[in-house]
Amino acid sequence: MTSKRIPLVAGNWKMNFDHLEATYFIQQFAWKLRAIHFDHKRCEIALMPSFTSLRSVQVAIESDNLKIRYGAQAVSVTSQGAFTGDVSADMIAHLGCSYVIVGHSERRKYHPEDDANIVDQVRAVLAAGMQPILCVGESYEERRKGIELDFAVGQVRDVTCDLSDEEAAKLIVAYEPVWAIGTGMVATPQSAQDAAKAIRNDLSATFGTEVGETVRILYGGSVSSKNAVELIREPDVDGFLIGGAALKVDELTRICKLTMEATS
Ligand code: 13P
Repeated sequence: MTSKRIPLVAGNWKMNFDHLEATYFIQQFAWKLRAIHFDHKRCEIALMPSFTSLRSVQVAIESDNLKIRYGAQAVSVTSQGAFTGDVSADMIAHLGCSYVIVGHSERRKYHPEDDANIVDQVRAVLAAGMQPILCVGESYEERRKGIELDFAVGQVRDVTCDLSDEEAAKLIVAYEPVWAIGTGMVATPQSAQDAAKAIRNDLSATFGTEVGETVRILYGGSVSSKNAVELIREPDVDGFLIGGAALKVDELTRICKLTMEATS
């Protein structure tokens, strides 16, 4: 990662932790971060709980004035009305959220989230004043064919083509190869760097270098304290989107500490 951008360690809790477990985690996490003198100016931390825990997470964070940010894992493309089960961007923003994950491969797989829907989610998140964390990444099949870079760049381009420079600058991209998610098979630092660099080059070509150099590009897929340092040392990897390891408070604390130290 380059010193121009502040690293971001984001925990995607997926469908884990009810509101009591989420509150308990935050309290332990805050205490452990304080114990290691964690400097939030050198590394940003965000947690993405399920919708039902967002309010409790907000209360836990605001009541102790913690510097941890938080967000949602998906959002409705509409602002209100007869959409049973959906949650709007404004509802999420009103809970103090900074981020919304958009287009996670598990959402693309289990829900009807195609490119058009993902574009609309990105727009909804931006319009509500939050930042989308746009997830892209190839499956094992695309990697086998050797088209992984084109595939990831194409997924970003499909979503960003109609954005203004100003909107594009607010994006965060998470490169998460599907084959690496939850499998213990982490991408090599070089392949994470190649993908992040390809995405950044394409953003620079479309929106100008300033935007390309502003957008943070995270790596996701079996991140742990064992591989985080090597990955974050790559110049275009600006942090992590973490699943399993973000459910263990000691492990997440270690990854945050290592990221902060490696990039400072
Ligand atoms: P794991 O870290 O469990 O591989 O999950 C990655 C992920 O999907 C984060 O969004």
